[in-house]
Amino acid sequence: MREPSLPDRRFPMVLAFLILIGTARLLLETSSSPCARVGMLRRLYRAIFGAQDGKHRIGLGSGFNGSECNLFEGRWVSDRDSDPLYEEESCPYLTQQVTCRRNGRPDSLYQSWRWKPHKCDLPRFDAVKLLERLRDKRLMFIGDSIQRIQWESMVCLLQSVIPDNKKSLHRDPPMKIFKAEEFNASIEFYWAPFMVESNADHATKHRVQKRLVRLDSIARHSRHWEGVQVLVFESYVWWMNKPVINATINGSYGVQEFDVPKAYRLALSTWADWIRFNIDSETQRVFFMSMSPTHLWSWEWKPASDDGNCFNETSPIRRSTYWGSGSNLDVMGALKDVMEELKPKVTLLNITQLSEYRKDGHTSVYTERRGELLTSEQRSNPRVYADCIHWCLPGVPDTWNQILYAYLMDDTFKRSM
Ligand SMILES: *[C@@H]1O[C@H](CO)[C@@H](O)[C@H](O)[C@H]1NC(C)=O
Ligand SMILES: *[C@@H]1O[C@H](CO)[C@@H](O)[C@H](O)[C@H]1NC(C)=O
Ligand SMILES: *[C@@H]1O[C@H](CO)[C@@H](O)[C@H](O)[C@H]1NC(C)=O
Ligand SMILES: *[C@@H]1O[C@H](CO)[C@@H](O)[C@H](O)[C@H]1NC(C)=O
Ligand SMILES: *[C@@H]1O[C@H](CO)[C@@H](O)[C@H](O)[C@H]1NC(C)=O
Ligand SMILES: *[C@@H]1O[C@H](CO)[C@@H](O)[C@H](O)[C@H]1NC(C)=O
Repeated sequence: MREPSLPDRRFPMVLAFLILIGTARLLLETSSSPCARVGMLRRLYRAIFGAQDGKHRIGLGSGFNGSECNLFEGRWVSDRDSDPLYEEESCPYLTQQVTCRRNGRPDSLYQSWRWKPHKCDLPRFDAVKLLERLRDKRLMFIGDSIQRIQWESMVCLLQSVIPDNKKSLHRDPPMKIFKAEEFNASIEFYWAPFMVESNADHATKHRVQKRLVRLDSIARHSRHWEGVQVLVFESYVWWMNKPVINATINGSYGVQEFDVPKAYRLALSTWADWIRFNIDSETQRVFFMSMSPTHLWSWEWKPASDDGNCFNETSPIRRSTYWGSGSNLDVMGALKDVMEELKPKVTLLNITQLSEYRKDGHTSVYTERRGELLTSEQRSNPRVYADCIHWCLPGVPDTWNQILYAYLMDDTFKRSM
């Protein structure tokens, strides 16, 4: 079993960081202007961590070369011995939706799988290195509740190396913003479940049933994305309620029902136009997360289990390929075409296949519904109440962030950002 102790390998780094903060505070008291302070902190940091200037290699030694290793092809290996990236109890920023253990999940096996790409290892997530990389920058996750969970995961991956009085989280709907003060870095979430405008854009009071999407309108959202150095987009599950979706395009034609893949493609192209005209690849990086799979019907991976779902699942699917009906191939096709046109401005993080295996990683009945923890009565009715869309944390979205980390730290991808 895993011990909740401070992992040895990380200890020197954490210690160095704490020393840095302590020393910086001493020095700051003697320096006057804010600029001098920031500069001093920066020099001090570099003195300790051995880097030289703004554009140097900090990525270092990740052992990952993006053009050599496909991080998305691999398998899940059981790994109960190595140190967890963080613990559920140790991250104060986790919301009730994702804290499966605290919500009563009996097993913690879902936390003990490590993604192993066939041709390399994922680099170990190093929070201090990533924060250094994000110095004076904003990292923004844009999308729906799946993306909010990825943002929560990133905050938890980073927060433990920052002292309490140097980090903060505040809500400014439709945004949530985590700040790491010493690094002048912010990790942000922006709610836009369809990326383009829709009647679901209010961060809390959104309509779930009568969806209406404005396929050619994005400006109300995109003005909040301008100039952000690292943008990570995602949009999928809100599209998938029915085979058709009500939408408007070209204003004057009124509301029409569109086939979902067609509507998705039109929305993506509106988004792609914004990317083309607004992103400066010299100073910005854009990522797009492919769809997060759902596990609503257990007969798909366990033939003859008639009406089960992800409830009670405790291990990944072991086949070398598995693709459930929750991951729509036409939507993937639309994504492929648009990504092809946007190369190399946008990096696709194709996490669908690796997440497809993880039928065990969903929140199932150990979650909330409309802000309320499920009652034990509801929990005993998984057919109705299991959530097989969202993910527990710690869990699968941490792997997505490890992959994002690999790309952000890799020199071959770095350019001059
Ligand atoms: C990454 O791998 C490619 C292909 O093997 C090679 O050409 C390139 O030099 C490598 N880049 C780095 C930074 O090692
Ligand atoms: C802090 O970061 C922001 C970008 O998020 C940047 O515009 C600003 O110049 C930075 N401040 C300093 C003092 O470097
Ligand atoms: C589209 O809107 C019409 C009129 O409100 C409604 O009758 C129909 O059910 C809606 N279609 C979908 C797919 O929601
Ligand atoms: C919207 O209008 C443009 C030209 O104004 C046209 O090319 C496009 O086909 C129209 N889209 C739809 C879905 O009607
Ligand atoms: C869940 O798994 C346990 C142990 O494998 C089993 O006893 C129980 O019947 C399962 N429950 C459902 C609803 O499948
Ligand atoms: C993502 O990967 C899957 C296989 O894992 C592939 O079928 C799909 O085409 C890829 N999607 C894109 C947009 O490249």
